[in-house]
Amino acid sequence: MSSVTLEHVHKRFGQAKGVEDVHIHIESGEFFTFLGPSGCGKTTTLRMIAGFYFPTEGQIRFGSREVTSVPPHKRNTGMVFQNYALFPHMTVFENIAFGLQVRKLSRTETQERVEKMMKLVRLEGYGERRIDQLSGGQQQRVALARALVIEPQILLLDEPLSNLDAKLREETRFEIKRLQLELGITTIYVTHDQAEAMSMSDRIMVMQSGEVQQIGTPHDIYHRPVNRFVASFIGETNLWEGTVAGIEGDEVQVRVSSGQILTGLKKNASPQVRLAAGEKVTLSIRPESVMESTTGEEANTVTGAVVLAEFTGACVNYVTSVGDEQLRSMSINLGRPVKQRGDTIKLHIPKESIYFAG
Ligand SMILES: Nc1ncnc2c1ncn2[C@@H]1O[C@H](COP(=O)(O)OP(=O)(O)O)[C@@H](O)[C@H]1O
Ligand SMILES: [Mg+2]
Repeated sequence: MSSVTLEHVHKRFGQAKGVEDVHIHIESGEFFTFLGPSGCGKTTTLRMIAGFYFPTEGQIRFGSREVTSVPPHKRNTGMVFQNYALFPHMTVFENIAFGLQVRKLSRTETQERVEKMMKLVRLEGYGERRIDQLSGGQQQRVALARALVIEPQILLLDEPLSNLDAKLREETRFEIKRLQLELGITTIYVTHDQAEAMSMSDRIMVMQSGEVQQIGTPHDIYHRPVNRFVASFIGETNLWEGTVAGIEGDEVQVRVSSGQILTGLKKNASPQVRLAAGEKVTLSIRPESVMESTTGEEANTVTGAVVLAEFTGACVNYVTSVGDEQLRSMSINLGRPVKQRGDTIKLHIPKESIYFAG
């Protein structure tokens, strides 16, 4: 296994910007994800790590070995492409064995390693099937086995689940994570799906328009988004504008559009946020942290009118208008009566659930 370092890596395509100044160190054995909307530069960055593109500027290292302009077949990475890129007329066995034949392994060793892989990805007994006789999920597992059979130091996955339906996507998510833990392989995973990124990764790099927005653990990125883009891209959140009214000890008082003062905690501010009286701030409040008030008297209770009430069985979701803003809330159904559109509701926002986004 190997660590991966990208040092101030840029990629331009003629005049067009691909990615700018990607600067990361991925630990050996880490599950690291590039997350962002389509066109933000995820594939470009991954392809530079695989060696299919060379950076316009910057350096790439695997451990202490510099690989910036080393061709793909000399890098020892295994790659799963978005469309799998399998050979449709060949069998499962032949597809998985391909990389070993290129490397001129003996027949017995090839046989052994392919069979071990088929077992690992739960395709035992499928060796003689043709690719076009397999389901999408099975094809995905062949692609994974083909990438892993060469025993790469680094596994690279480009949106490997995007061709699967929702249920299979979730199952396969756990399969990939299980394999990664079992093999302890450094894994770089590309996706535009935040739930996928959150559930599988040790750390996530969020990208937009070719630029890195934030690098952190799923917990950090969820709770301490550095800007509005990250806050709204990772899960749902309420973004409220406010003005700092005062600071006392660990607590920050913020006046929101309804005129009310809400209390938050200093420690919940992203590093670049300036907390000082009179400063404009953006509050990020996750829907699941907003609770229907029981007494109406807790600190940080706001009153509003229900705009939308949604009962899903397990959950009760409201959109409530408060001042000039709306507050989305989501709670587990505890059997209380559900409010209707137009009803007045009191909602409590615990001070430890208010985050200051940049
Ligand atoms: N081979 C290429 N030639 C020209 N522009 C490219 C090429 N590959 C990617 N780009 C551009 O680089 C940007 C990032 O693309 P990409 O890395 O494919 O994004 P993502 O994988 O996040 O959807 C896009 O603006 C895209 O149009
Ligand atoms: Mg892509």
